[in-house]
Amino acid sequence: MKLLAINGSHRGDKGHTCYLLDLLFQGASEAGAECEIVTLAKYKINRCLSCGECHEAEHYLQCAYRDRDDVASIFDKIAKSDVVIYATPVYVFGMSGLLKTFLDRLYSTSDVNQVMLTQSGLLFHHIDHAVCSKPFVSLVCCDNLEDETPRNALSYFRAFARFMDAPHVGKLVRNGGKLAGYGHDPEKRKKLPRLDQVYTAYIQAGRELALEGRINPRTQRIANQEIIPVPFFKILKNLPPFKKVMLERAKEMLA
Ligand SMILES: Cc1cc2nc3c(=O)[nH]c(=O)nc-3n(C[C@H](O)[C@H](O)[C@H](O)COP(=O)(O)O)c2cc1C
Repeated sequence: MKLLAINGSHRGDKGHTCYLLDLLFQGASEAGAECEIVTLAKYKINRCLSCGECHEAEHYLQCAYRDRDDVASIFDKIAKSDVVIYATPVYVFGMSGLLKTFLDRLYSTSDVNQVMLTQSGLLFHHIDHAVCSKPFVSLVCCDNLEDETPRNALSYFRAFARFMDAPHVGKLVRNGGKLAGYGHDPEKRKKLPRLDQVYTAYIQAGRELALEGRINPRTQRIANQEIIPVPFFKILKNLPPFKKVMLERAKEMLA
C-alpha cells in the first residue's frame, strides 16, 4: 500500500498538519505501508493562469508551462499511489491557498469540452481518473473550536469526492490546535487528557489505511472528538451562556 500525503501548510515540517500526518504515517508504516509526504511549501507551485492552452491541440491535457514548476511531478506521484491524504490547515475559513493553488492545476488534466456524468449522477466533464479519482483522506486542522470553522474546507472535499468519482475514505478534522500546543507541548497533554486518545486514534487510522485502505468510522470519531474535558462539550459549546464560560477558560489555558 502506497500512501501519499499532500501537506498544504505553509509551516511545512514544523506545523500541526505535519505533526498529525507523522502520527498517521507512524501507524501506516508500522503496518507495512510505503509513506511519503509532499510538503507543498518546499515545491514550486505556480497558479493556473486560465490561459486555456491545455485544452488546445498543441498542449492537450497538459499545462503549457509544466516545465516551469513541480506540479506535474506531484501529479505523477499521486497517480502511482493507492491513497492520497489531502491535508490542510484552515486559513481564514477555507483550505490553505497553497493547497487550493495546487488543486486548481488539476484543471489542465481535464477535457472540459467533453461532457460526462459522474458515478454519483452529476453533470461534469472528462477528468483524468488516474490523478483525480484516487481514494483520498481529507485532514483539516484549525485553532478555533466552532464547527463552522472547518466547514468550507470539508464541503470542498465532499464536492471533490462526488465530482471526481474519488472515494472519500477518511475525514479527519482536528480543532483546538493552539490549545493543544500543536502536539508539541507535554504540559498541554496533561491538561487535556483526551489528546492522548486523539493521537493514538491517528496512529490507528494510519494502520487502518495501510491494511484496509480506509479509516474505520469509530477511529475517526475518536480522532475528531472534542479535546476539552467537559461532558457534552460538543452540544454545550453551541449554547450562548456556556460560550462566555468557555471564553474565560480558553483565556486561562492560553495564558
Ligand atoms: C493565514 C492564516 C489564517 C488562519 N485562519 C484561521 C481560521 O480562520 N480559523 C482557525 O481556526 N485557524 C486559523 N489559522 C490557524 C491555523 O489553521 C492553525 O494554526 C493550524 O494548526 C496551522 O497548521 P500548521 O501549523 O500546519 O500550519 C490561520 C493561520 C494562518 C497562518
